[in-house]
Amino acid sequence: MDNDDGHQHGDQPENGDGHGHGHGHGHGAGLTDAEAAALFEPSGWDERYSGEEKIWSGNPNAQLVAEVSALTPGTALDVGCGEGGDVIWLARQGWRVTGADFSAAGLARAARHAQEAGVADRTDWWQVDARTFSAGGRSYDLVTTHFLHPPDGGMVEVAGRLAEAVAPGGHLLVVGHAPSGVFTQLSASHHRAMFVAADLLPGLPEGFEVLVVEQRPRTAVRDGVTVDIHDSTLLARRTA
Ligand SMILES: C[S@@+](CC[C@H](N)C(=O)[O-])C[C@H]1O[C@@H](n2cnc3c(N)ncnc32)[C@H](O)[C@@H]1O
Repeated sequence: MDNDDGHQHGDQPENGDGHGHGHGHGHGAGLTDAEAAALFEPSGWDERYSGEEKIWSGNPNAQLVAEVSALTPGTALDVGCGEGGDVIWLARQGWRVTGADFSAAGLARAARHAQEAGVADRTDWWQVDARTFSAGGRSYDLVTTHFLHPPDGGMVEVAGRLAEAVAPGGHLLVVGHAPSGVFTQLSASHHRAMFVAADLLPGLPEGFEVLVVEQRPRTAVRDGVTVDIHDSTLLARRTA
């Protein structure tokens, strides 16, 4: 799940830390319980991605660039890939990338953007729900996810599931929002879905070396206002 800060298109200079909704109704604290719950399910995201309006900036996420630029390109899986900004960046760096999301409409958009970016031949798409994700024998040199916030602490289990898809010697990068009062428009369930990096450690299986576990400060623009936020960042390498 995401942070749902109610941005309109054009407000967000970065990928994934905020979005516009383009449906003309309010979000966050003003949501009914049913509306808030829909934002944790594919239907809510399909609706969001079904309009014409681009939701994310298309720029790669900051922690992805910070951590992956120095890695040797191989195969990568980006779970909760949205409109594909990170997938496209990875493909341009030489990675062979599978973009995964539970929203079919999101994946269709991402595939279109990859086509327009000229990297379609380096990308594949996979409709999966991270909450029940199983690698099914596939493995990747990099498994990454940005701003996926399943409800009720669900990211701990999701991190573990994603870790199972990391090849020996490969990396797992999980980035999300640290809880913050900055997200004033969010529902209580969205706030509960945020995490700090250390929360995820119990979900990691044996055989991982933790390289980064911290909250990284970053500025973002929300509703035209520059605010300070923190990216909860977990980077781990599979040693065995
Ligand atoms: C906040 S957006 C982030 C998109 C992208 N990672 C970025 O940073 O721009 C969250 C994305 O995760 C997807 N998503 C949310 N819950 C999911 C789940 N349980 N399984 C798979 N995808 C999910 C949504 O459809 C959406 O595209």
